[in-house]
Amino acid sequence: MNIGKWRFTKRQLLTRMSVVGNLLIVLYVFNAHLYVPSTSRLREIAVVRTSRIFSYGSSMDSGSSASYALSVVFYGMREHWLIFCNYTEFAHYKYLITFPRIVRCPENNYSVLVNFTREARDIAAYDVVVYTNVYEWMTPVMWDWAHGNRSDGQRWVMITEESPLYVPGVEPPLKYANTTFDWFDAYKSDSDFVHPYGSYEAYGANKPPEIDLKKYLVNKTHLVAWMGSHCETLQWNRMKFVEDFRKIIHLDTYGKCGDAPVPWNNDQIILEVLGKYKFYLSLENSCCDEYLTEKFWRALEMGIVPVVLGAPYEHYIKYAPPNSFIHVDKFDTITELAVYLIGLNSDNERYLEYHKWRNMGKLISYGQEEQYVRPLNNDTMCAILNKYLRTNPKDQKKIEYFGKRWFGSCSKCGSKDWVNTFMHPKDHTRNNADIWAK
Ligand SMILES: *[C@@H]1O[C@H](CO)[C@@H](O)[C@H](O)[C@H]1NC(C)=O
Ligand SMILES: *[C@@H]1O[C@H](CO)[C@@H](O)[C@H](O)[C@H]1NC(C)=O
Ligand SMILES: *[C@@H]1O[C@H](CO)[C@@H](O)[C@H](O)[C@H]1NC(C)=O
Ligand SMILES: *[C@@H]1O[C@H](CO)[C@@H](O)[C@H](O)[C@H]1NC(C)=O
Ligand SMILES: *[C@@H]1O[C@H](CO)[C@@H](O)[C@H](O)[C@H]1NC(C)=O
Ligand SMILES: *[C@@H]1O[C@H](CO)[C@@H](O)[C@H](O)[C@H]1NC(C)=O
Ligand SMILES: *[C@@H]1O[C@H](CO)[C@@H](O)[C@H](O)[C@H]1NC(C)=O
Repeated sequence: MNIGKWRFTKRQLLTRMSVVGNLLIVLYVFNAHLYVPSTSRLREIAVVRTSRIFSYGSSMDSGSSASYALSVVFYGMREHWLIFCNYTEFAHYKYLITFPRIVRCPENNYSVLVNFTREARDIAAYDVVVYTNVYEWMTPVMWDWAHGNRSDGQRWVMITEESPLYVPGVEPPLKYANTTFDWFDAYKSDSDFVHPYGSYEAYGANKPPEIDLKKYLVNKTHLVAWMGSHCETLQWNRMKFVEDFRKIIHLDTYGKCGDAPVPWNNDQIILEVLGKYKFYLSLENSCCDEYLTEKFWRALEMGIVPVVLGAPYEHYIKYAPPNSFIHVDKFDTITELAVYLIGLNSDNERYLEYHKWRNMGKLISYGQEEQYVRPLNNDTMCAILNKYLRTNPKDQKKIEYFGKRWFGSCSKCGSKDWVNTFMHPKDHTRNNADIWAK
């Protein structure tokens, strides 16, 4: 499959500033003022496409006899981490890309050495090798080198928040399909380290006071919006869906692929622009199991009802707040979908049914920034350490990469024929370098 530099383009515009650093942001949606909007400025990042030798800033004295329980190496590097950490706002993350570094895990006081290399021959010395979304990085011969230099009992971890279709940099050649990764760290619930984009928790005994849901009608002067900063997608023709839909319903489009630009990294402005809509098209770039991204969770955060296409309906049922979304695949035609939205628009009571969950539980949404540096952070290193200590290297479980667990978790966009008419053929490749983004 010809999937190359998607990652790079996608993050040209970074990302919102989370007020609690790389911790998760818990949004008590019943209490909207607890949601602190982004303070990030509008900023563009100059994309540097050339490869460069990483310059090390050592946090350890060369003569140091620091001891550690586990050694982890990042093989390859996402260049945009370097760019990201160069921003003043994110300078506090710089230590994450300062190699080698030592992380002390508070849980047990063991330490982890974290280092970085671009040379396959260096990996042999480490207990664990981490692969993340490296674009155009791992060529087939480099996979040979990596396997050739793999030491006994060494664990390989793949960390990504993207769908399988969008992580070509960690896709081994077929011959290594079953012998490469021991552990996955991803949004899927069967990952070894599970990191979804968001989740919902029903209230238990500590149910907060009810909010008046009528506030979700205030300012809702517009019908449907869609925002896209990347137009071409690999698995299905999202733009064609948007274009077909707007022929039959009043749909406003924003972002680079829409009619009006909007800085998608600025939460405050996005909320101002999108907050006046009743519905938002949360159209994922990939139709893959459990792939519910920030497109979905952010719409809920903003008090909008998401109209979704991506993961199967059952997966939304499993993870989303109850009755919080409208799944395209539940309709028999695109017109039926439009008619349904128009009906809800003129019936406040029925529209508010889609907000009732806000009195039933809380939404947990993970900041984009948290997703962004997650592969590097202390928690990730300590989780790897703990997993390593609890498992026997002799029973290494090599995950079948192309099976149902990962690459095979993406198939059709819907169960209905009309939905699947938007899908590209299986051998579809992009001719637009801009595809590598959402
Ligand atoms: C980061 O900033 C340093 C110093 O200002 C500069 O030398 C380096 O090229 C920058 N790196 C990237 C990836 O922008
Ligand atoms: C990560 O670990 C380093 C070294 O133990 C420590 O200095 C740093 O404060 C930790 N960062 C966070 C966010 O806990
Ligand atoms: C880790 O070390 C600190 C400081 O030496 C100590 O207070 C703490 O009890 C230790 N924790 C564990 C789990 O051993
Ligand atoms: C970290 O990696 C670099 C590059 O492979 C290597 O030169 C250095 O010795 C490593 N440091 C440690 C402490 O392993
Ligand atoms: C180890 O990696 C180096 C590249 O760093 C490569 O030249 C060498 O062939 C690899 N060793 C094996 C046994 O594959
Ligand atoms: C990987 O495992 C699957 C299922 O066990 C099998 O069908 C496939 O042939 C294996 N692939 C390789 C390259 O060994
Ligand atoms: C409605 O819009 C006004 C003006 O933008 C804003 O001050 C107010 O908070 C909004 N109300 C709700 C419930 O969103």
